[in-house]
Amino acid sequence: MKKCPDNLFEQVQEFCQQLTSFIALALIFVFVFISFATAQKSKLLEIERNKPLHFEKNILPIFQTKCLACHSKSLALGNVVLENRETILAGTPQSLIVTPGNSDASKLFRVVAHLDEPFMPPPGNDIQPTSMTSEEIKLLKTWIDQGALGADNDSLFTQSQVKWKSLPATVTPIYSAAITPDSQYVACGRSNQIFLYHLISGQIVQRLVDPNLVNQNKFHAESKTAHHDLVYSLAFSPKENLLISGGYRTIKFWRSNEQEKPNLALDRVIGNVEDPSKIIGRVTALAFSPDGKLLATGSGESSRAGELKIWNIENAKLVKEISDPHSDTIMGLEFSPDGKFLATASTDRLAKIFDVSTSQLVHLYEGHSHHVLDVTWKADGKVLASSGADGVIKLWDTETGEQKETIEGYEKEITSLSFIGKTDQLLASSGDPTVRRGQQRLRGISNFIHTSVVSADGKTVVAGDQDGRLFIWHTPDIMPVHILRPTAVPPTIPLSSR
Ligand code: HEC
Repeated sequence: MKKCPDNLFEQVQEFCQQLTSFIALALIFVFVFISFATAQKSKLLEIERNKPLHFEKNILPIFQTKCLACHSKSLALGNVVLENRETILAGTPQSLIVTPGNSDASKLFRVVAHLDEPFMPPPGNDIQPTSMTSEEIKLLKTWIDQGALGADNDSLFTQSQVKWKSLPATVTPIYSAAITPDSQYVACGRSNQIFLYHLISGQIVQRLVDPNLVNQNKFHAESKTAHHDLVYSLAFSPKENLLISGGYRTIKFWRSNEQEKPNLALDRVIGNVEDPSKIIGRVTALAFSPDGKLLATGSGESSRAGELKIWNIENAKLVKEISDPHSDTIMGLEFSPDGKFLATASTDRLAKIFDVSTSQLVHLYEGHSHHVLDVTWKADGKVLASSGADGVIKLWDTETGEQKETIEGYEKEITSLSFIGKTDQLLASSGDPTVRRGQQRLRGISNFIHTSVVSADGKTVVAGDQDGRLFIWHTPDIMPVHILRPTAVPPTIPLSSR
């Protein structure tokens, strides 16, 4: 709000000052606009979906017209310099603004997509800077998801193989976690590694290593990795000692032959990072059928169609592919308690229910105003809950297909959602950052929470954050009993092949 000057003279004076600065700024804007508009337009048209973007060619021209007036080296409002890739990756003295490979965790994307404040460019100025168009925002998102690359990475794309780029050792987010059906152990995917911990003692039990990756990849400072890239999803079989992990274009089976203690070893791999024919992109969602016989995988490439496949666990063969399930990546999957239906959550803003035997769409739930990130069934199978990047949870009637309720009160995206045991209470994690068990806010957390899970007996809750910390709470306590920190190993991220 502008304050109201109390006499006419002041009013006129202020008006004149505003007019002068308006004209000066307008001239600058016109100049900047003319010099870049032409170049930018032709560059935008050049972009093909699957080609990697790089900063100098695809992003800088946008920033030059819309951001550099306030974020140059000389002005640097908010300590943000958007003039080159290095200063963008360096962030502000307080925090990073880009997490390469993860636009949703990147402030730079969130403020222009109006997911977080301060919205950029700031609205309500005397000189209203032009907002980014949805096409430009999509480009920025894709650029970050591809690893926030620069021109010097360009040579990597002249070959047909997938090339790998290492991320800083400080990037060790936990995107995935799963608890064994006996509620004894938790597995978490921390960057490209998988750790197994005992829930009561908090002791590390095992670190899963893919022997094929040992000494294979020059980017790994240490070779104890489970996947080339980030571990996006994990699921334990409800019936046997089997863990499935999802990475870029691959899922891995980790089995134990011992009855008591899990001693998981790599048993088989489906897919190949070089070959999209089995699995198209990052496996962002995994779900077992209640009888443990089927595994559903959800994936997708940024802004391309989502992929939904169902595999036979016994022989690792593809049972079926549900064609055209979503127009974008599948982020969450869960079989209904009777195993007959499969619910999906997608970045196309929809949640859906498919009939597993016929592959037919049963319900389509429209109502979230942003990415749908997770879905969960109530134990009676009559209610499906979905959570979104719009910060709301929606409850849907699975018989009529109608929306029953919307739960608000989150300040950022709700990254994971589960019904707790057979109750109608929900466990939800959010970037705001909170982990909420029913009405309770669990304590101890301070950074973006990507995932949370609850044990089958409903007694233990686990969550993982952007800094690689794994939190364990036992009911009824709200303080965590364990906070398990990472040991730094630089992960790698895939740059798509042609
Ligand atoms: C008219 C001036 C202006 C323009 C134009 C502008 N910004 Fe900003 N920006 C600011 C100010 C002021 C801040 C500090 C806000 C604060 O402290 O909360 C800021 C902060 C930021 C931040 C850091 C947010 C945080 O939480 O610290 C990012 C990222 C950002 N801007 C990105 C952009 C992008 C991208 C554009 C172009 C699309 C842009 N800005 C255009 C003035 C501007």
